[in-house]
Formats: sequence, structure tokens, C-alpha cells
Amino acid sequence: MKRDVAIIGAGYVGMPLAQVFADAGKSVVLVDVDAVVVAGINRGESHIPDVPSGQLKKLVDGGRVNATTDYDALDEVDAILIALPTPLSSQREPDLSIVRRAVEDIAPRLRKGQLVVLESTTYPGTTRECVQPILETSGLVAGTDFYLAFSPERVDPGRTDWTTRNTPKLVGGLTPACTERAAELYRSAVETVVPLSSPEAAELTKLLENIFRAVNIALVNELAQLCERMDIDVWEVVEAAETKPFGFMSFKPGPGLGGHCIPIDPFYLTWKAREYDFYTEFIELAGKINANMPYFCRSLISQALNHGAQKSLKGSRLLVLGVAYKADVDDVRESPAEKIIQLLRKAGAEVAYHDPHVAEFDGLQSVEYKPESYDGVVIVTAHTAIDYDDLVERAEIVVDLRNATGRNGIGNGKVWKL
Ligand SMILES: NC(=O)c1ccc[n+]([C@@H]2O[C@H](COP(=O)([O-])OP(=O)(O)OC[C@H]3O[C@@H](n4cnc5c(N)ncnc54)[C@H](O)[C@@H]3O)[C@@H](O)[C@H]2O)c1
Repeated sequence: MKRDVAIIGAGYVGMPLAQVFADAGKSVVLVDVDAVVVAGINRGESHIPDVPSGQLKKLVDGGRVNATTDYDALDEVDAILIALPTPLSSQREPDLSIVRRAVEDIAPRLRKGQLVVLESTTYPGTTRECVQPILETSGLVAGTDFYLAFSPERVDPGRTDWTTRNTPKLVGGLTPACTERAAELYRSAVETVVPLSSPEAAELTKLLENIFRAVNIALVNELAQLCERMDIDVWEVVEAAETKPFGFMSFKPGPGLGGHCIPIDPFYLTWKAREYDFYTEFIELAGKINANMPYFCRSLISQALNHGAQKSLKGSRLLVLGVAYKADVDDVRESPAEKIIQLLRKAGAEVAYHDPHVAEFDGLQSVEYKPESYDGVVIVTAHTAIDYDDLVERAEIVVDLRNATGRNGIGNGKVWKL
């Protein structure tokens, strides 16, 4: 069946991308190795909250979106967009094996005139050094026989003001014609397209955006640790700084980085920089500070139990509230909750969790919300579905790692804030 666009990877990035193109009148085929995901999409059932099933069903029923596990679907498309995971290996080095395998599957099916765009976050050079040579095993030449570009995805899952459609889309092609071809495609579906001079510039821009976040989060996390010693409320300080209308951008401290991007992507650049005898010290330092936060939080929880209830971590019954990596999403990838629960258990605490968005986590099941039944409650993720005034009322001790309780509970000896 003839389709305009194929999207490889029907995940957090691929699904909203498919919706945006389909809404713009294009026909889209999603190619994914997960047969369960594929069958769900073809029934109009979405596994990604940013794409509600109701909307997906209309697009599927209208023939605009379908999914398949079969790469042969690529034969009939004009453009192939790759939205696959780019994790780190256990040695914390870039693991491009998923992208590489998919590109190997694309190469024998590549046709003259097709456009291929990599959307996955990665180090500068990936499109040219990794994707291009594999695609050219087809006998076709990039920039001459087919178009090749990099266009990073900037979606922030759960966000409704800035979405795939209205967030400016960066496009860096291998040649000016590649940039123009890719820009033309995206212009048909997203509001603003920003052409760049090369795939490398686009690859590095995406990394800069995520490194900027990692470094600034580390800065406030370091400040939070100092504030604890100085007995200053770091949240008050950050909120006060926010009143400056210029020259300051607010980042919040927290129990550690989470999600598929910020804890991982910066190290793609660290790795690549070494090839150029260069050490990305800001990234390393930020990584060190952010990685220490779960340990700092464990000591905070221990102090709260000691001083607030004359209890030690060993033998305490604790409720972790929120295990998703950020508020109001169901995504638990790289969530700091995992490390915190592990550290608390290692210290001898009995840990349960409640999360309205996550039924199962790390071998545990979300328990009923009964904060009064525990020695202490630790807010790791501040979902808006929880009533924090009620929590402070009912719990014996609250360790608030997200400032969810705000000014409530300050001075009552019950709430301990990061
Ligand atoms: N999730 C985010 O918030 C976000 C935001 C911006 C950029 N990114 C980047 O976008 C990329 C994709 O991330 P994601 O969060 O959408 O990943 P994801 O894990 O949600 O989705 C990936 C999908 O790819 C499928 N898949 C795996 N191997 C495959 C193969 N060989 N062929 C076809 N399908 C295959 C999986 O089954 C899965 O459904 C990553 O590089 C990520 O860093 C993610």
C-alpha cells in the first residue's frame, strides 16, 4: 500500500510524530519490532499517553495510520523517519546497535529519491559516519540517489503547550538539497522548520539542549546540598531568583535525573569528544553531582526518621510516593526512584510504593494509598493527582524531595524537605 511517510519506532517519539503527519493529511506507516504494540495501534489503541486512543482510532479508521512489523512496508514510502532508542551500554558508552540494525534493514529496501531522516538523539557524526555507509551498501549514493538528514526530536512527553507540531524542528541535511527535501516534508506538518548547515550541527544542538538541562539541574542540586548544611530553604531561594525577569532561568533540585534523555544523552558527547583529545568536564561534573542525589536523599530520609520519630532506617516501614521519572507521566525509565528504593532497602527499610500512573515497578506493585500506615512517606515524584495537604495531615513523617508540600508543614516537625 502506498504511504507518504514511514516511521521506524512507535514509541514516545514515533507515535506523536505519526499523529502530526497524519493530522496534516499524510498517510503514515509505523514500523516496530514489537508485535503487541503494532496490533494495538492497528486496533486504534495507543500505548503512549500523548496520543490518546480516541484520536489514534480516528486516524487508523480513516486509513491515515497503520502499523506493521514488516520492513517491506518501506518499499512504497517517500520518506523514512527513524525514531529508535539510543541508550548507553553498561560501560556508559553510546549503544547504536538498535539504530544500526534498523538501518541495515532499510538499506536493501532503499529506493532512488527516498528521504531518510534520523531523529534519535546521538553524537555529532552519527548520520554521516554510521547511517550513511550502511545505507550506501544498497549501491545508492547519499545526496545523489537518496536524501539523508538528521532532525532531532524535541518532544517533552506529558507537555501540552509545546508539542511535536509547534516546537520548531531543526533539520540538518548531508547536502543543501537533502536539507531542503527534509525541511519541505516537515513544513507540511509542523509549524516552524529551522534549517541547519549539516547533520553534525543538528546532532550537537540537540545534545547542547539536554546538556544545558543536566548542568543546570546539577547546579541547583549542589546548592540544595549546601543549603541543607546552612539551614536555608533551597526552594525559597530558587523561587526568589525566579522573580528576576531576565538573566535567570529556573531549574529545580530533586532526587536525581530520570527519563530517557537527560541522564544519558550528555555522555554521547563525552564519548565522542575523547576522539578529539577533549574532556567534557562540565558534563562529567554534572553527572557526578546528579548521580549522588539519591545517596544524599537517603541520608535526608535517615535524619528525618531519627529526629522526627526516633527511628532508624533499619526496620522502618516506608512509602515511596511517585516512581515515574517526572510528574503526571507513566514513564519509569532511569527513574531515580529505583536507586532510592534500592538504597533504602539496603539500609534495612521495608519499602512499598504508591503511584497512580505506574501499576508495577521494579518487581513491586503499587499499594493502596494509606500514608498513615507507614513510619514515613517519601515524595520522589509529585504527581498532581495526590492531595499533599491531606498527606501532611495523615502521614507520620513526610520527606519531600520535590517541594510538593510547599509551605505546608514547615515548622511542624513532620515535613522534611530536600
Ligand atoms: N522520550 C522522549 O522524551 C524523547 C524526547 C526527545 C528525543 N528522544 C530520543 O528519541 C529516540 C527514541 O526514543 P523513544 O523515547 O521514542 O523510544 P521508545 O523506547 O519509546 O520507542 C522505541 C520503539 O522502537 C521499537 N524498536 C526497537 N528496535 C526496533 C527496530 N529494530 N525496528 C523497529 N522498531 C524497533 C521499540 O519496540 C519501541 O516501540 C531516542 O534517541 C531518544 O533519546 C526521546
